[in-house]
Amino acid sequence: LSERTQAPRGTFDVLPDEEPAREAIVREAQRILGSAGYRRIETPIFEATELFARSVGEATDIVRKEMYTFDDGGGRSVTLRPEGTAPVCRAYVEHGMHKLAQPVKLWYLGPFFRREAPQKGRYREFFQVGAEALGSDDPAVDAELILLLADLLDAIGASARLRLSSLGTPDTRAAYRERLTAYLREHEDELSPDVRERIDLNPLRAFDASDRGTQRVMAGAPRLFDVLNDDDREHFEAVTAMLDDADLRWELDPSLVRGLDYYTRTVFEFESPDLGAQSGVGGGGRYDGLVEQLGGPPTPGCGWAAGIERMLLAAAAQPTPVDGVDLFVAFAKPHYRREAMRIANEVRQAGLHAQLELAGRSLKGQLKQADRIGARYVAILGDEGAQLKDMQSGEQHEVEVGALPAAVLRQRPGG
Ligand code: HAM
Repeated sequence: LSERTQAPRGTFDVLPDEEPAREAIVREAQRILGSAGYRRIETPIFEATELFARSVGEATDIVRKEMYTFDDGGGRSVTLRPEGTAPVCRAYVEHGMHKLAQPVKLWYLGPFFRREAPQKGRYREFFQVGAEALGSDDPAVDAELILLLADLLDAIGASARLRLSSLGTPDTRAAYRERLTAYLREHEDELSPDVRERIDLNPLRAFDASDRGTQRVMAGAPRLFDVLNDDDREHFEAVTAMLDDADLRWELDPSLVRGLDYYTRTVFEFESPDLGAQSGVGGGGRYDGLVEQLGGPPTPGCGWAAGIERMLLAAAAQPTPVDGVDLFVAFAKPHYRREAMRIANEVRQAGLHAQLELAGRSLKGQLKQADRIGARYVAILGDEGAQLKDMQSGEQHEVEVGALPAAVLRQRPGG
């Protein structure tokens, strides 16, 4: 017996029954982001590896151990995109979008890849819908983006808690980093080995650690939020004032760390209690240095991404509309198959949904099949011409074969 090949660990198939719920989320995203002037952009599934190393950060988990990186056969190192912000910034620079009216507001949807340990809500291939606004450091951009994600989560029936903080400018961060590193050194023997190893590389990640010892140390650690400069504090307060005006509830969480290095100022995350350990439904923040870091002109930016699978887990189950079948074309004898094909085709060209018998069932079996798929009408082709059966009333009458599309159209509500 040969072994069956299965989908790779951490990946999944989206089966037809699961697709409508996903589509519903995408439709809401398109509607909500479109209503604020965000336009769709798509970037390649793989990019030059250095794009992510330079933006997400060499010291992050993503770049250190989660990227699918390979040689493309021509000696170039490429990586399946682990996130969408760096690619969008690359595209912004590559297409000279700084010449457009700013901010340039973009959204995207597609698969992303991270070699993480799979668990509920955490996959190696997952889908994100994301939004980015480039070219303005106005706090209204941050507030608008946050409100749009809140609207999306609300529209799909996901209840989520908003945590918010500010990371300040790179200078503030650098000074703070030194303070935090010194503090961590003082408490070195209370930290987990993993955190200890990375004190110099990425001290901020210690806030994210799951072990008790590190958490105890971090409870007393100095916080970046407390040492922000006046401009950054003012920016943050302007953002939160607009969230308050919109009656959006938020919580200040100075220990909020995001797993990517490019953030400056605002950072935020929506968390759902329905998700368990992987509680982040969507998150993002401001990245005022990223475009320049990638070789573009100094350009502030802000954005977020939300996982489709996590939104599905957090969303209330939505009734999925069934796609109505207008006509099923049945036939009593196999030699009517060609005619059935022709009729089904013609009815589809008239804009209706038509299916025909494809599995050689008996006439009785065909009527059963028509019932199973919820066909409104069945055309039965036989030696005495065609009969049109109304599956709701059970009534049946003769029709001209050529008049079938018109007959079905006429019977339709509004037809
Ligand atoms: P992120 O927090 O790494 O941010 O990912 C955003 C969202 O993607 C998460 O909240 C989660 O819903 C989903 N996600 C991430 N990893 C996985 C996974 N392994 N399995 C399932 N879902 C996952 C970013 O990616 C940034 N680019 C967001 C951003 C945009 N910041 C500014 N602009």
